[in-house]
Amino acid sequence: MLFNLNTAVSLLALGAFASAATLEHKRDAATGTSLYAYGTNVSGINVFYGDGLAYTGTTIPDWINVASNVTFNFDSTDTKVPWTITSNTSTAITGSQLYVIPTSGKFQQVGFVASNGTAPTGAATSGFTWFGTMLAYSESSSNMEMKFWASPTNTSGVWALMWNADGTTDGTSVPVVLKRTPPTVLTRT
Ligand SMILES: *[C@@H]1O[C@H](CO)[C@@H](O)[C@H](O)[C@H]1NC(C)=O
Ligand SMILES: *[C@@H]1O[C@H](CO)[C@@H](O)[C@H](O)[C@H]1NC(C)=O
Ligand SMILES: *[C@@H]1O[C@H](CO)[C@@H](O)[C@H](O)[C@H]1NC(C)=O
Ligand SMILES: *[C@@H]1O[C@H](CO)[C@@H](O)[C@H](O)[C@H]1NC(C)=O
Ligand SMILES: *[C@@H]1O[C@H](CO)[C@@H](O)[C@H](O)[C@H]1NC(C)=O
Repeated sequence: MLFNLNTAVSLLALGAFASAATLEHKRDAATGTSLYAYGTNVSGINVFYGDGLAYTGTTIPDWINVASNVTFNFDSTDTKVPWTITSNTSTAITGSQLYVIPTSGKFQQVGFVASNGTAPTGAATSGFTWFGTMLAYSESSSNMEMKFWASPTNTSGVWALMWNADGTTDGTSVPVVLKRTPPTVLTRT
């Protein structure tokens, strides 16, 4: 199997390879996991829905009208099944499908398309799968990619979640992985 990763992510991926192998044959529950972004200065921050687009951040900017925490529903046995989201606060966005825009040369925000909506040109709503505990996109069975980047917004602590088809940096964005595991909180005993 060819793992087509950008360099920064591949280092992290190597460490997860063992767990990916163990998980491969395990049938996953179909519902309900949050996603957390990890990268430089992005230390396990919740992925949330904002006006049809995906963000990661600790606050909700006032320029987002509809913002919601979401959980992702998946079928890890079939990459052709789109991943839908569930929101506790908005029935209107529940059922929307996750998409990335994997078109060569594109550096576009990850988003969600409503069941009665139209996804942007080039958007892929299927092909999502787990690579260990990390979200990957698999265009074909021989190719698994993790090209998520976090692009700072004009609100401190909030990043737009991007898919960077070519992996070339724009100078301000950082590569991130999206994991289903929340950050470990250190507590004093
Ligand atoms: C991470 O944060 C530090 C401190 O704010 C900053 O100096 C550095 O440039 C940031 N790194 C990236 C890749 O954004
Ligand atoms: C998501 O949940 C966290 C913790 O409960 C909360 O602080 C944050 O404001 C929520 N975000 C959204 C977009 O509702
Ligand atoms: C929705 O509510 C359930 C039950 O209170 C909770 O377990 C779950 O974490 C919530 N999901 C989100 C995305 O806030
Ligand atoms: C989709 O359905 C929602 C809720 O029923 C509605 O508010 C919205 O206008 C519909 N959008 C389109 C593009 O039909
Ligand atoms: C911040 O960025 C958002 C999204 O690009 C934009 O809608 C908003 O107008 C910007 N706000 C300011 C103060 O620049």
